[in-house]
Amino acid sequence: MFPQAPPDGILKLSVLSRADTDSNKVDLGVGAYRDDNGKPWVLPVVAKAEQRLQNDPNANHEYMGVGGLPSLTGGAQTLIFGSDSPAIHEGRLYTLQTISGTGANMLGAVFLKEFKVPADAAIYISKPTWGNHRSIFETAGHKVREYRYCNYQTLTLDINGMLEDLRAAPPGQIIVLHACAHNPTGIDPTEEQWSKIADVMAERGHFPFFDCAYQGFATGDVDRDALAIRMFVSRGFELFVAESFAKNMGLYGERTGCLHVVTKDSSLLPAVSSQLNRLSRATISTASAYGAKIAGTVLQDKALYSEWLANMQTMSDRIKSMREALRSKLTELGTPGDWSHVTSQIGMFSFTGLSLDQVETLRNKYHMYLTDDGRISVAALNSNNVEYVAKAIDAVVRA
Ligand code: LMR
Repeated sequence: MFPQAPPDGILKLSVLSRADTDSNKVDLGVGAYRDDNGKPWVLPVVAKAEQRLQNDPNANHEYMGVGGLPSLTGGAQTLIFGSDSPAIHEGRLYTLQTISGTGANMLGAVFLKEFKVPADAAIYISKPTWGNHRSIFETAGHKVREYRYCNYQTLTLDINGMLEDLRAAPPGQIIVLHACAHNPTGIDPTEEQWSKIADVMAERGHFPFFDCAYQGFATGDVDRDALAIRMFVSRGFELFVAESFAKNMGLYGERTGCLHVVTKDSSLLPAVSSQLNRLSRATISTASAYGAKIAGTVLQDKALYSEWLANMQTMSDRIKSMREALRSKLTELGTPGDWSHVTSQIGMFSFTGLSLDQVETLRNKYHMYLTDDGRISVAALNSNNVEYVAKAIDAVVRA
């Protein structure tokens, strides 16, 4: 008989929070954007695209192709790599639609399990990383190792530790990198640090596997948030990018994403694309339609695209203002410790540095649901709950 699997560290919080009837409860768990009333936000541009699809007299529910919807995959290529990307112009890029970022990570992992060189290469993930990464790569049969990423004392990037670990790894390992808005820490390398990371990766012949779930969330600027990926492409790396449209388009349930593969040479593309298509056909058959049609419509229409950028700015501005509000409440309360990381970290999350004991007290006594590693989804804060959250944090820090 096999053992029961443990609950997912992030998704279990939504279940616990739903079952909690306390009027003060705050679900700071799953990374999903909420408006200032604590409600899910349908991006106005998404509502417009949906309306357009509903009015289309040729709309149907036919199967899509295995590779996905070209308006989505093509738009996603330009979004991530930029319209002037050498990988696009030299025919060295293949993009396949996936079941959001998770599906892209898994498809890439399954492909690498079969074709990676050297065959015993491990997948290196940052310490810490998104709770699902280890599970995805281990489920696909890889050895998973960690590289240092966060200095837990200062809650800043441990760049020296990271570079040392990448240098010490055997040549040709697969390195998972968060393109922007690192999950869970909200700590991103600077451009200069990315350049050092790229130097070591090139020196050691490592393979970059970017996970890009927050383009547009980190800085409000889609080009800036793609800086690391574009830098690696310009340096001639072969690489993967797992891309999700869950956060930046608010298409959480539609599972809309892509896996991008950049090869050194265009002659490799037929083999790479056909094998990826084979693996995708074997797991999900053909691509899923609804979210792809919405995202494809937004990406291909100039006016909708500009509106989308503005919608992302709205989300990113509100998150920034909540970071400032939380930090200033903690400062007002004189909460022991340095809370500057709340505003210096970017993206959807703040890595608070709270211990597991403190997290459990927040959960059990204050009805606040954050992950065991002390991550809070800043997107769940609003003008009504931020004071309560700050006071609760203050109380557990002083206890
Ligand atoms: C998160 O980290 O909360 C999100 O990426 C949602 C998920 O699937 O875990």
